[in-house]
Amino acid sequence: MEMRKRTIFISGGSSGIGFALAKKLIGMGNKVIICGRSADKLSAAQESAPGIHAIRCDISKKADIESLNESIVQKFPEVDMLINNAGIQRQIDFLKGPEDLLSGEDEIQVNLRAHVYLSAYMIPILAKRMESAIVNVSSGLGFIPMARYPIYSATKAAIHSFTMSLRSQLSATNIKVFEVIPPIVYDTCLKGKPQPPAENGITAEEMADIIVSGIEDNKYEITAGQTKKWMEMPKEEADRTFQTINKKIN
Ligand SMILES: NC(=O)c1ccc[n+]([C@@H]2O[C@H](COP(=O)([O-])OP(=O)(O)OC[C@H]3O[C@@H](n4cnc5c(N)ncnc54)[C@H](OP(=O)(O)O)[C@@H]3O)[C@@H](O)[C@H]2O)c1
Repeated sequence: MEMRKRTIFISGGSSGIGFALAKKLIGMGNKVIICGRSADKLSAAQESAPGIHAIRCDISKKADIESLNESIVQKFPEVDMLINNAGIQRQIDFLKGPEDLLSGEDEIQVNLRAHVYLSAYMIPILAKRMESAIVNVSSGLGFIPMARYPIYSATKAAIHSFTMSLRSQLSATNIKVFEVIPPIVYDTCLKGKPQPPAENGITAEEMADIIVSGIEDNKYEITAGQTKKWMEMPKEEADRTFQTINKKIN
């Protein structure tokens, strides 16, 4: 799929993978719109990559998703790609009962519900284009869960499932449906602030390059690092990998 001269909306493009992708896509001659909660982060992104359009919103709120969709349709009616990228990750200890669960942001709303709703709002618009796409960002942890991030891992497994169903439902339309399955991407704000280089990790710029070439090659499941192996593992090996990566906390 051609990745030039498109109008692309990226949820959460103000840092990390989304921002690296926005910068790369702007450089390739696309119109790019990003969103996020922090006005400061959006302004910093626009300063560092002039040309990016930004809309402030909180996609955990249904009303914000509705007004976000209205703004996109009014200001960028030619939009032909939705990249469902925004995400949060929280440690939740169920031994504390609902304490951790109720004391922070709701990962189900941000990582899953928002992407389902944004897709539903935008499909009728994307269906009118000659060629368009929805790109959902899941995670290797959707295939091998990290127990300390139980809801995060579950939402990413759900995104994989949702993406498969959407691809099937939209197969007779002009909308292509991609899934991006990143490994550890260490220079992002997912853990609050950028992390030092990690074993098996890659940079956000490297991930952005892999995403763009994957879409150009019509590779519908875009993996990187160990995530291809994680997706394709037989169950026994996946169970062993689960035990290994969770050993420290069990
Ligand atoms: N980093 C990794 O190792 C890794 C691995 C696998 C998958 N992923 C996935 O990659 C995607 C991007 O994450 P990242 O690592 O690049 O993290 P990041 O740097 O924290 O980027 C997340 C983006 O989402 C926005 N966002 C968060 N909550 C939002 C909300 N309620 N409404 C609107 N925007 C919101 C953030 O902006 P504001 O904070 O201003 O809202 C930011 O722009 C996520 O789906 C993540 O799960 C990351």
